[in-house]
This record gives sequence, structure tokens and C-alpha cells, in this order.
Amino acid sequence: MKNNNISSSLIPHPSSLILVTGGAGYIGSHTLIELDKAGFDFIVLDNLSNSSEKAIRRVEKIINKKIPFVKGDIRDKKLLREIFKENKIDSVIHFAGLKAVGESVEKPLEYYENNVCGTNNLLEVMKEFGVKKFVFSSSATVYGEPDKMPVTEDMQTGVGITNPYGRSKYMIEEILKDLFISDNSWKIAILRYFNPVGAHESGMIGEDPEGIPNNLMPFITQVAVGKLPKLRVFGGDYPTHDGTGVRDYIHVMDLANAHVKALEYLNNNNDLNEPLIVNLGTGQGYSVLDMVKAFERASGVKIPYEIVDRRPGDIAKIYANPNKAKELLGWEAKRGIDEMCESAWNWQSKNPKGYKGE
Ligand code: NAD
Ligand code: UD1
Repeated sequence: MKNNNISSSLIPHPSSLILVTGGAGYIGSHTLIELDKAGFDFIVLDNLSNSSEKAIRRVEKIINKKIPFVKGDIRDKKLLREIFKENKIDSVIHFAGLKAVGESVEKPLEYYENNVCGTNNLLEVMKEFGVKKFVFSSSATVYGEPDKMPVTEDMQTGVGITNPYGRSKYMIEEILKDLFISDNSWKIAILRYFNPVGAHESGMIGEDPEGIPNNLMPFITQVAVGKLPKLRVFGGDYPTHDGTGVRDYIHVMDLANAHVKALEYLNNNNDLNEPLIVNLGTGQGYSVLDMVKAFERASGVKIPYEIVDRRPGDIAKIYANPNKAKELLGWEAKRGIDEMCESAWNWQSKNPKGYKGE
């Protein structure tokens, strides 16, 4: 193997192997644990632009197994070809992508290049090698500002999306649908995540954003460890039960498990007539202040907050109807808001500086 980023001694050659792109990231690293538990073998490709190899090393400790890891980019076709040539890859779970909404408004071309072109590139190489099983990390953001709640998968997408990040997810979904139309031997799962929070029960891995967190839960946990002085609650005048924004928070381990179920669904169904599209949420909406209270209960730490102006691009309320995932995949979220907050706190209190503190 020519690429020196690849530690070829680590790469096994089992009969079926999953390529996990973005597997060093928050959701990817948790999913590796569930894949291992279900008996799947995998290889991770990540450019570490928003993550650390330490996450992979810690997952190795949790699963007590070496993880074949390639530091590289999904936009590098030459590298992808080497990976597919050297390994008998059977399917791809595709987490790799940029995900900061605000940054995507400032750098739209970077976001389209990385997310849309990167995914297209990956699909082209998969096609070259006849690998046609694909699980994609999409987002509830594709629904824009829905007029009905809870959100079902047949509702309109692509309209009212407020930022390039969200549009990149919508565009990739459309590419995947077109790909299937062109060749129905592809098996594609589009997973629309709602708001993943929490961490593995060990507290060894978790969400570790660069700089000041954009998302609610990591902001709260960083206030709790004293890294940030107080939470700014974006908007107190939404038409919700307490005036603050309502979302469908889902424990990252439940989300991780859904990837195993989606893959099993693709493996077990040979006559799919369209890509599988499912919401991954709990079906429960909680407000920002509900989350603050739940976190205080779980951690025993008071979270000072201030209600400030609405954040541009935010919507009042969104939560999933998760029934389709239950019917087709036999999957439903098992962990509630208390477990989400306890595990987030367990990770952050054990790792106040994230992976950098090691
Ligand atoms: P993350 O940033 O922690 O993980 C993404 C990983 O992809 C990172 O490790 C990053 O280094 C890697 N990456 C980025 N661009 C790459 C490239 N060109 N080549 C190789 N690796 C690359 O994010 P996450 O929260 O784990 O999200 C995973 C996926 O789920 C993303 O596609 C994200 O858009 C999607 N998603 C996340 C959320 C959320 O709230 N976390 C919600 C909906 C959808
Ligand atoms: C955001 C993105 C979404 C993306 C997801 C995961 C927008 C409009 N949507 O979802 O596309 O898939 O992150 O990356 O940005 N909040 C505060 N204070 C904070 C942070 C958040 O009050 O410091 C509030 C928000 O206004 C919202 C809720 O908490 O009501 C959840 O926010 P966040 O965690 O950023 O997720 P989303 O906005 O739902």
C-alpha cells in the first residue's frame, strides 16, 4: 500500500467490512461501539478536521479491540480507491461532513465542497468498486420550518432551510434518490437525526466541540464545569409552553444503535424500491428550559442563564414522529432526558477539557 497514512498491518480482510467515514467524530465514535457489539467489522476514515484520534483510541479501550484507522479525506479519490482495493468493503456508513450552521453561512463553498462534493466523490468510488450499500447521516433540518407536528418522513423537504449546512444535507438526499432511480440495486438508508445529546455510559467518549459550542447541550455542560459563565437562552417568546425553543433530543447511544438496525435492514431486504428514509428521534419535544432543569437535576449543578434575542434561523418547535423507524427497523429510543443529561455530565465532568485534557 502506497499511502503512508494507512497502517496496513492493522487492516483486516474479513468477508464483510464496513467503511465508517467520520468515525472519529461525536456520533461516529459512539456508533463504532454499537457496531462492534452487533458483530460488525469496520475500518474508519476521518481527516480529523473536527475530531481527535484519541476518540478512536478510547473506543478501542471500550471494545477491547484495535480499530483500523485511516487519516484521510473523503474528497481524495486516490486514497478512497486504495482503501476499496485493499479491503473487501461491503457497505459504507457516512458520517463525515462539516456541521456548524453559522460557519456554513460564512463559508458556503467550503460546506458544499466538503459535504456535497465529498459525498459525490465517495459514491463514485463505491460505484467503481460495486459497493452499493450506503447509510447516510441526514438531519431534521431538511424539513425547514414544518407546518405540522410531529414531523413525518413524507412531509415536504428542501423548503425554508435557512443555511448552507442544511441545504447540503437536502442536496445529498436528492443525489441519493437520483442514484437509486438510475440503478435500483443500490441499498440506501437516509437517517434524519433530530438532536443527538449525551455520551457513552463509560464517560470515556463524548461530544467535544472546538471553541465555543453552538449547540445547547455542550454549552450547558461547559457552563457546569465553569468553562463558560452562563447560558444564553435564544428567545423567550416562542409559541411554546415556556416561550423557549422545543426540540427532540435523542441519546447518542440510541442513535448509534439505529445505525446497526438500518444496516441490518439493508442487509435483509433485497427488494427495496426506494431509499429507506427514517426520522431518528424520540417523539418527545423538550424546551431549552426543560433541558436546563433536567441537567440541574442530573448533575446537582446550577446553570445560570439569561434569556436573550432569538438566534437567526431558529424555529420555535420541531419533534419527530418516530413510528416509521419502529415499524421498519424495530428500533425506538430507549433512554430518556434524565439519562441524556446524566451521561453528558459524566463525560464532561470526567473530561472538562475534552480530549485535549488527556
Ligand atoms: P462531528 O464533526 O463530530 O463528526 C464528523 C466527522 O467527520 C469529524 O470527525 C470530522 O473530522 C470528519 N470529517 C469532516 N469532513 C471530512 C472529510 N472531508 N473527510 C473525512 N472526514 C471528514 O459531527 P457529528 O455530530 O458526529 O455528526 C456526524 C454526522 O451527522 C455529520 O454528517 C452531521 O452533519 C450529521 N448530523 C449531526 C447532528 C448533530 O447534532 N450532531 C444532527 C444531524 C446530523
Ligand atoms: C442545530 C442546527 C441543525 C443541526 C443541529 C446539529 C440551526 C437552525 N439548526 O439544531 O441544522 O443539524 O444544530 O448540529 O442552527 N440554544 C440556546 N442557547 C445556546 C444554544 C442553543 O438557547 O447556546 C437553543 C436553540 O435556540 C434551540 C435549542 O437550544 O432552541 C437547540 O439548539 P441546538 O442545540 O443548536 O440545535 P438546533 O438549533 O435544533
